Amino acid sequence: MAGGEAEIISAVLEGFTVVSRLEVGPFRDDDDLDALRELDATIFGSLAYPYFVLRQVVDAHRDEILLARLDGKLCGYALTMTSRMSDVAWFQGLGVHPKYQGRHIGRRLACAALTKLFGAGIRTVQLVVRPANTAAVELYQSLDFQWQKDLPGYFGRGQDRMLMSCTLSKKLTRTLQAQARSDGEVRPAAVGPSPDRADAASTRG
Ligand SMILES: CC(C)(COP(=O)(O)OP(=O)(O)OC[C@H]1O[C@@H](n2cnc3c(N)ncnc32)[C@H](O)[C@@H]1OP(=O)(O)O)[C@@H](O)C(=O)NCCC(=O)NCCS
Repeated sequence: MAGGEAEIISAVLEGFTVVSRLEVGPFRDDDDLDALRELDATIFGSLAYPYFVLRQVVDAHRDEILLARLDGKLCGYALTMTSRMSDVAWFQGLGVHPKYQGRHIGRRLACAALTKLFGAGIRTVQLVVRPANTAAVELYQSLDFQWQKDLPGYFGRGQDRMLMSCTLSKKLTRTLQAQARSDGEVRPAAVGPSPDRADAASTRG
């Protein structure tokens, strides 16, 4: 997806209409790195990337990071990693600040990232996710990811994950593109977690 696409989110806050601007775009500079580090820690807690890992990820995969900014402030990110030796990409990271979850920011980030991968010639995308992470699993399923196999102890003892995979096609990508840009129904923004989505689990993978 071309960087810098923006849309308007309106929220009703005690009778006032608050208009927020959501922008999904590329990683820009070291200021983004600091903000990303803070956001990653907020979302993933003890499973956040150590700074030196994030630094190296940014250096090696800068083009595969998409950032969501609400009124200019970082609120979500998507990270993919593609090997030059194969046509398979990994969806390595997807996260939205807890305050802004449930407002289709994660869906837009994921759709934009997958669309970008398709444009780069990638046809298979894999990811690992905790089976009990309902929010993430349902999002991935809705994007055509399918269960491949269980991975007991993938991140160590008690940290089971499952492998999911998606085959990108022209038809699917058209749907993804539409979702990445959709102005459809948007839940109120910047007024705290949506009550119906407050149970979204925060876990890496
Ligand atoms: C998973 C995550 C990225 C989703 O982003 P989000 O902006 O909160 O989700 P969206 O509003 O875009 O919802 C997209 C879809 O996810 C699913 N979903 C989101 N929250 C959900 C919840 N609490 N329960 C069930 N399904 C949920 C739904 O299918 C939803 O589609 P719908 O609204 O059309 O029904 C976000 O919740 C998050 O950052 N969680 C913590 C980190 C994490 O677990 N990342 C994934 C690691 S693999």
